[in-house]
Amino acid sequence: MIVCKTIAECRREREKLGKLAFVPTMGALHEGHLSLIREASKHAPHVAVSIFVNPTQFGPNEDFSRYPRPIEADLELCRSAGVDLVFNPDAEEMYPPGSPEISIDLPQLTNVLEGQKRPGHFKGVCQVVAKLFNIVQPQVACFGMKDYQQLCVLQAMVKALDFPITIIPCPTVREKDGLALSSRNRYLSPDERQRALAICRALFAARDEVSKGIRQTNRLVATMQQIILSPGNLGHVPVAVDYIAAVDPVTLRPKEMVDGGVLLAIAARVGNTRLIDNILIESAE
Ligand code: PAJ
Repeated sequence: MIVCKTIAECRREREKLGKLAFVPTMGALHEGHLSLIREASKHAPHVAVSIFVNPTQFGPNEDFSRYPRPIEADLELCRSAGVDLVFNPDAEEMYPPGSPEISIDLPQLTNVLEGQKRPGHFKGVCQVVAKLFNIVQPQVACFGMKDYQQLCVLQAMVKALDFPITIIPCPTVREKDGLALSSRNRYLSPDERQRALAICRALFAARDEVSKGIRQTNRLVATMQQIILSPGNLGHVPVAVDYIAAVDPVTLRPKEMVDGGVLLAIAARVGNTRLIDNILIESAE
């Protein structure tokens, strides 16, 4: 496995490989990332992973400086997953002092949900992913549905800017008890981890209602609210809700009925940790 710290080195090493599938990450790798790597290897004979905690996608009061960076463990996981190339630049390599400001924005997709709660977040994501695509030049790139809005925004960016790259959406990997894997789960105390389960339980309860025939999304949202806001056996509300939404899976606009498919999405804070999760309900007949 080749590990590159500079753009020049990464370009040089990339040229030696043929068709390449790419998994961009911020490291602190877990089974969710590994599932993307496994999926990537089905689409090309070579796999590249980037590990870069991108400063431009964090807000001023977010967790950039405390974001976990266990690089040696990450490289070992990549090695055992059969990754060919890891790009692990530092921030000065990606954003040399004096770089001009640049912004790629897809406001129709970014002025809702995460984009509304984290101003500028998706500009940062588009900026870094566009750069990574130009540096790594993959034919295929894998993204997780855990970050559903990010996936939509990047699919739209690739289409609008004609990147010759096929985006592969990959399903959310969960712990046995349902908690969606996230690098940020490392912040959670045992008590907070228990409380965090309210998020996926709310989503699963809404999905069960759909399977019982409920079609109005306001009923689903009410169910999710009830679960997430009920004190439970801990005696206090488990998490602080940022949003609970039922939106069209393509436009990300609020949707009244489940028919034709709906995305149920939740963002909530557990202590100081902000978590997101979602469930895609494909057309219920
Ligand atoms: P990061 O949070 O490290 O996630 C990297 C990729 O792993 C993303 O595509 C994300 O959706 C996917 N992922 C995370 N948790 C997952 C899970 N439980 N199941 C399946 N996939 C999961 O997303 C980013 O980094 C950054 O914004 C990035 C795209 C790298 C740009 O900086």
